[in-house]
Amino acid sequence: MYYPDEIIEEVRNKNDIVDVIGSYVKIQKKGSSYFGLCPFHNEKSPSFSVSGHKQIYYCFGCGAGGNVIRFIMNYENYTFQEAVKYLAERAGVTLPEVEFTEEARQKQSKRDKLLEINKEAARYFYYQLRTDRGKQGRDYFTRRELSEETMKKFGLGYALKTPNDLTLYLKNKGYSDDLLVEAGISAFDERFGLHDKFWNRVIFPIQDINHKVIGFGGRVMGDGTPKYLNSPETMVFDKSRNLYGLNFARTSRAGNFILCEGYMDVIAMHQAGFTQAVASLGTAFTSGQASLLKRYTDEVLLSYDSDGAGTKAALRALEILKEAGLTGKIINLEPYKDPDEFMKHLGKEAFEERIKQAENSFLFEIRMLKREFNLEDPEDKTKFHKEIARKLCGFEIEVERENYIQAVAREYDIGFENLRRLVNRYAAQTGGAKPVERPKSGIKKRQTVEDHKKRTQRMLLTWLTDEPEIYRQISKYIKPSDFTEELYGRVAQMLFADLSEGNYNPAAILSRFTEEEEQREVASMFHTKLEGIETKQDKEKALRDIVYAVKKNSYEYYTGKLGTDVSALQQVIDGKRALEELAKVHILLS
Ligand code: CTP
Ligand code: MN
Repeated sequence: MYYPDEIIEEVRNKNDIVDVIGSYVKIQKKGSSYFGLCPFHNEKSPSFSVSGHKQIYYCFGCGAGGNVIRFIMNYENYTFQEAVKYLAERAGVTLPEVEFTEEARQKQSKRDKLLEINKEAARYFYYQLRTDRGKQGRDYFTRRELSEETMKKFGLGYALKTPNDLTLYLKNKGYSDDLLVEAGISAFDERFGLHDKFWNRVIFPIQDINHKVIGFGGRVMGDGTPKYLNSPETMVFDKSRNLYGLNFARTSRAGNFILCEGYMDVIAMHQAGFTQAVASLGTAFTSGQASLLKRYTDEVLLSYDSDGAGTKAALRALEILKEAGLTGKIINLEPYKDPDEFMKHLGKEAFEERIKQAENSFLFEIRMLKREFNLEDPEDKTKFHKEIARKLCGFEIEVERENYIQAVAREYDIGFENLRRLVNRYAAQTGGAKPVERPKSGIKKRQTVEDHKKRTQRMLLTWLTDEPEIYRQISKYIKPSDFTEELYGRVAQMLFADLSEGNYNPAAILSRFTEEEEQREVASMFHTKLEGIETKQDKEKALRDIVYAVKKNSYEYYTGKLGTDVSALQQVIDGKRALEELAKVHILLS
């Protein structure tokens, strides 16, 4: 770690977790915490909690958890140092200058090296486009009506006709052959040896949300194949979790995102002012990309090619959007093939109009479905209607279903009552208007004895962080050594030490763990709730029961260690006394 602990604490203290997370995720106050949809996994009902009191976030769904620094690391994909730097800037804390020693340089992770290579390569391509040798590339982009400004914004470049100019350039900078291959910049074969992957193509650098170049797409300037050549997946380039243009789109504030198929589409859209446009990376749209979008918006407008392949891809993308809890709509580009061509011919006002007219995803699906049937044929027509009814069953909410029945009946000239009857019949056959079974989150896995022991220890730790005033009562019976799980014991040690001095700072305890896994687990120790306790008496009884259970477990644990552990005897004696006392007393809460 480069920064002293005190500075890190200062940075953490000056960045209120509710403020910080609230600027990324919609959260609402519920009881003593804030709740929202977890940005780290797909969910439809909020299980992501942020506690201002504890300065910790925790997701009851996926177990993500930590303090404000961890949140920024995970959300922004930052290293610890980057997150501290970012938060320091946000709160106006001046960080001491960090000296990078030779040793620190050596330790620099491979990830950083790959990013560095990508950056060097992007600069090289960018430079080549602007030299004499890059004239062909420049002409190509100009022909496609891109302005200088747009070329600059997207960092567009050009790969020379020579077979290994870039490879030599990077080797000269000290990068090894292996690393260049691993970065996807160079490739090896018998004929050319180590050579550049991209030759004689215009280059589209692909950036992650923090504007770091993670890969490239290269297009031929004529009709050669393949039309696009893309970097392979590498340690820094995960095609299913990044989107082209998202680094700009995420701050567009348009209220929606426009999902296109191609790099050129995104660029043309941005040039026309639609800075909310993104595209997948030469692969089909994935659920990882959907959850990435879900962090920023609820509505995605599809602007896919209007041909058969584009329609098929759009239908699939709609499904994925739905699963991620996003509303999808379809922009009609007819008579043009893709957004790029549309923009060239009709311009941005016309596109604005198409956005307004974007078609609801369900109605789009039905319209596409219709193409599969010959409505002149009564049998086929019946099949079509049945299929519509089946799809309508997917709407669980009655009014919504009725509205759709109405809309579809009108559009396809089917009697409203007839269609409704068909839907009801279908629903009855398949057991209710709810064909999709989702796993119920309420179902608890069978708890093992071990789970139960851990759980009571966690409940006590949570209780102490929720209501630190119980410490005075608890400490009569419980010591940190009663938390027999190794990590729990370490946390209890810190928490008890703080509480005995009248300090309370759970988030600072989290800071003392550097591994993400440990931080998650510690966050879970501070978020294990007892459900369904209403009266004060119930609460007092529950607290006593938990204290008793923790103590009893500890007593049994140390009894098992008698003879091998010298401190066990004292623990056993203490334990016996405490248990006898606990059996008689009542813990009174104020
Ligand atoms: N694509 C690819 N490899 C190909 C063809 C396409 O990876 N051989 C990917 C690219 O990411 C491309 C997207 O699929 O951007 C959409 O393909 P297409 O519609 O053919 O490309 P456009 O972006 O429209 O490109 P252009 O307008 O330059 O033809
Ligand atoms: Mn195109």
